[in-house]
Amino acid sequence: MSTISDDPLYRDPSLAQFYDTANRWGPDFDFCMRLAEGANSALDLGCGTGELTAALAATRNVTGVDPAAAMLDIARTRPAGDKVEWVEGDARTVRLGKKYDLIVLTGHAFQVFLTEEDQRSTLATIAAHLSPTGRFVFDTRNPGFRGERDVRHGRVRQLEHAELGAIEASDKSHYDEATGILSYENGYRVLSPGEHFAGRSKILYTPRDKLARMISDAGLTVDAWYGDWEGNPFHAQSREIIPVGRLA
Ligand SMILES: C[S@@+](CC[C@H](N)C(=O)[O-])C[C@H]1O[C@@H](n2cnc3c(N)ncnc32)[C@H](O)[C@@H]1O
Repeated sequence: MSTISDDPLYRDPSLAQFYDTANRWGPDFDFCMRLAEGANSALDLGCGTGELTAALAATRNVTGVDPAAAMLDIARTRPAGDKVEWVEGDARTVRLGKKYDLIVLTGHAFQVFLTEEDQRSTLATIAAHLSPTGRFVFDTRNPGFRGERDVRHGRVRQLEHAELGAIEASDKSHYDEATGILSYENGYRVLSPGEHFAGRSKILYTPRDKLARMISDAGLTVDAWYGDWEGNPFHAQSREIIPVGRLA
């Protein structure tokens, strides 16, 4: 089992501080908020800086799990962060002794698991924590959609950091068709006083059919496969693979 110890984007506070600027509230979080209607409890695995986690906690009991202390440090200080139970833990192995009405992994957190063994362990964690009527949802980029990988490579974005002001965020990436692993580097240049931060990481792309087998093997079943967070059905060239399911 690999660890996240070599993943500076989340572990290193000087890189984690850019996460919220580069990753804003979007249709993924709107989708999860709608799915959470009627749920009394939610578990956010790989919750990161906890923007969705804290929003879910406004009206229900919520636990956020992430192994990166630097991400959780940001999560704890956000408004409503005190309503969440934050757990520094690993989605592959954590056992909380509770069941939840909704389990989410957003921001493509499922793709940080680079081996089938790690993916299966994470799906087992979902199964172990779902209430009998509970539902799960997560997103993983579709290897059948070329656009995402091409868009990421060489992309430069001008962004505004809440404390540091204007920054330039850059992505470089290389996709290995044979393994489905995308190696990438995220760079952040603070324009004044001109500091540069960069970190490398890897994510795994998994075909839908393989994912479907692993989900089924974990004792879970999928009610709907979406191809984007706007709620369109999955098809071979969809941007995303988004299963919404429950215990089989
Ligand atoms: C791309 S971020 C997504 C964060 C958040 N879910 C969001 O939507 O913004 C991926 C997160 O997965 C976390 N992660 C990495 N390894 C993990 C593991 N073994 N178990 C749980 N989370 C993990 C990282 O620390 C990081 O916070």
